[in-house]
Amino acid sequence: MRCKTFLGVSLCESYDSVRLSGRFSELRDLREVDLRSPQTRCYKKGGRKIAGKVAKRKGNMKLKTLEQLYISGLRDLYSAENQLLKALPNMAKGASSPELKEAFEKHLEQTKGHVERLEEIFEQLGESPKGKTCRAMKRLIEEGSEILKEDGEDSDLDAGIIVAAQKIEHYEIVSYGSVRAFANLLNQEEPARLLQATLDEESETNEILNGLAESIVNPEAVSETELAAC
Ligand SMILES: [Fe+2]
Repeated sequence: MRCKTFLGVSLCESYDSVRLSGRFSELRDLREVDLRSPQTRCYKKGGRKIAGKVAKRKGNMKLKTLEQLYISGLRDLYSAENQLLKALPNMAKGASSPELKEAFEKHLEQTKGHVERLEEIFEQLGESPKGKTCRAMKRLIEEGSEILKEDGEDSDLDAGIIVAAQKIEHYEIVSYGSVRAFANLLNQEEPARLLQATLDEESETNEILNGLAESIVNPEAVSETELAAC
């Protein structure tokens, strides 16, 4: 690298920052500005111009990164939702409590809608929803499947299934919350609205599971509460 005072501190620091951050495409752009060329040599004014160009590029890079995070998060959710579509019928089948079965069946219908909303967003973005496997969801579903294979009291197994389902819901709530925030930052109003609608349904499902956990794991406590309310 040329000395820092040659073209001004900003340009040299830009070299350092892109090199350290691994943004090699930006580094290539900087290399296009030949430090030995007559146009740039010894001209502080030229250096300032280039530094300004670099600063502008850095701004664009930030926005590009946010877009990449947004699309990557959406693809992760698309994979997660499709995995869940296949898992929910088994979870409903494995549940003993009729209320828990019903909750899973209802969420299966909601999940179909979640997939459709994501497809709508991808269509608006002109991007493909495919290309990523959500490994976190894969593992969470595996955990749930392991519980379904266990022997035990129906209420205990239901409690285990609820815990697995709530872990899934919490993962989705955090994921939808983050992509909704990215959509807002990128002024994607319609996608943000669709993502919020799904987020509301995920939160509602989590609340239903909370209530079922109370009644299945500790039915006496619920009976006492109901009696006290009478
Ligand atoms: Fe969902």
